[in-house]
Amino acid sequence: MERNQSLGILETLTLMTLNNIHIPVLLERCVELLSPAISAPGAVLVDATLGMGGHAEAFLQRFPELTLVGLDRDTDALTIAGERLAPFANRVHLVHTVYDGIAEALQGLGLESVDGFLFDLGVSSLQLDRAERGFAYAKDAPLDMRMDATTGPTAADVLATYPESALRSIFQRYGEEKLAARYARAIIAHRDGEPIERSAQLVSILTDATPAALSHAGHPAKRVFQALRIEVNQELAVLESAIPAALSSLSVGGRIVVMSYQSLEDRIVKQLLVAGAASTAPVGFPVELEQHKPEFRLLTRGTELASEEEKLRNPRSTPVRLRAAERVRSIS
Ligand SMILES: C[S@@+](CC[C@H](N)C(=O)[O-])C[C@H]1O[C@@H](n2cnc3c(N)ncnc32)[C@H](O)[C@@H]1O
Repeated sequence: MERNQSLGILETLTLMTLNNIHIPVLLERCVELLSPAISAPGAVLVDATLGMGGHAEAFLQRFPELTLVGLDRDTDALTIAGERLAPFANRVHLVHTVYDGIAEALQGLGLESVDGFLFDLGVSSLQLDRAERGFAYAKDAPLDMRMDATTGPTAADVLATYPESALRSIFQRYGEEKLAARYARAIIAHRDGEPIERSAQLVSILTDATPAALSHAGHPAKRVFQALRIEVNQELAVLESAIPAALSSLSVGGRIVVMSYQSLEDRIVKQLLVAGAASTAPVGFPVELEQHKPEFRLLTRGTELASEEEKLRNPRSTPVRLRAAERVRSIS
C-alpha cells in the first residue's frame, strides 16, 4: 500500500489514545539501571528503538538535564515520537536510521561518546496495530512487514523470489518452525499459479499445509510471520553489528540496557555482552595485564523478566528478556 493511503498521523494518535497503545516495558527497571550513568548534567542517552517515545518521554521527564538521541527506522514512529517529545525539543535529537547506523548518527551530532543506550527490540504496537503494514497474521493486509516502509523488499517480494531452500531455511532459523520444509513447498506450489501478496492468502496456504494432527498446536502462521519479519528487516544481522557499535560508543561508567522479545535476539545480546565482560588474557597467562581486563561488567545475572503483575497489565511484556552492562574500562 502506498504511504499516502495509510492512516494519517492524527488518526494514529487518536488510535494510540483509544487503545492506550504501547505501555513502555520494564520502565522502572530501565530507569533504575541507567540512572547512575545519566544523572549528571550534560549526560546523553541514546534510545536506539525510539518507537512512539514511551521510554524516551519518561527519561526526559525524570532527568531534566538529559539529552536524548532517538533512533528509529520507521518514519511514522519518528513523527509520532517527535510530537510527543515536542515539550523537550531543546534536549532531543531524532534520527531516521537503522540502528546499525549508530556510529554515523552520533558522528553527525558531533558526539564522540555517550552515557547510556536503550534497546527495546522488535516491532511496536503502532506497527502491529496498523493493519496495512502487514505484520499481523490475524488481519488481512498486503504482505509488507518493512519497519522502514520507505525502502527494501517486502515480505511479498521474499515469498515471490526466494528459492524453496531459502524459504525453508528462514522458517527454520528465524521461526524455529518444525514444518518449515512443508510450508516452503506449499508456498512454491502456490506461487506458480498466483502471486502471494496478502496475509490472508498466506495464512490460508499455511493452514491448508498443516497436518490435521497439528492443527491445534498454536496458529500455523505465527512462526512463519515472525521469520518473514526478521528476514525482511534483517533484524538479527543488524543487531549483531548494532550492539558492538553501541558498546564502543559508551563512555566509562556508561550503561546499556537491551530488551529482547525472542530467544534468537537474546542469544546475540548475551554473547556480545558476556564477551565484553570477559578477560581477554590468553589461557595460561600468569597475570591479567591491564589491557586484558574486561571492558564491561554485567549488571544483570542472566536475564530479567517482567513481573506477573506487569505481564497482566501489559501483555507485550510477557516474552521480554532484559540484559544490561556497564563500561568499566576505556577501549584499549
Ligand atoms: C518495541 S518498539 C520501541 C518502543 C519504545 N520503547 C516506546 O516506549 O514507545 C521498537 C521500535 O524499534 C524500531 N526498530 C526495530 N529495529 C530497528 C532497527 N534495526 N533500527 C532502527 N529502529 C528499529 C521499530 O521500528 C520500532 O519502532
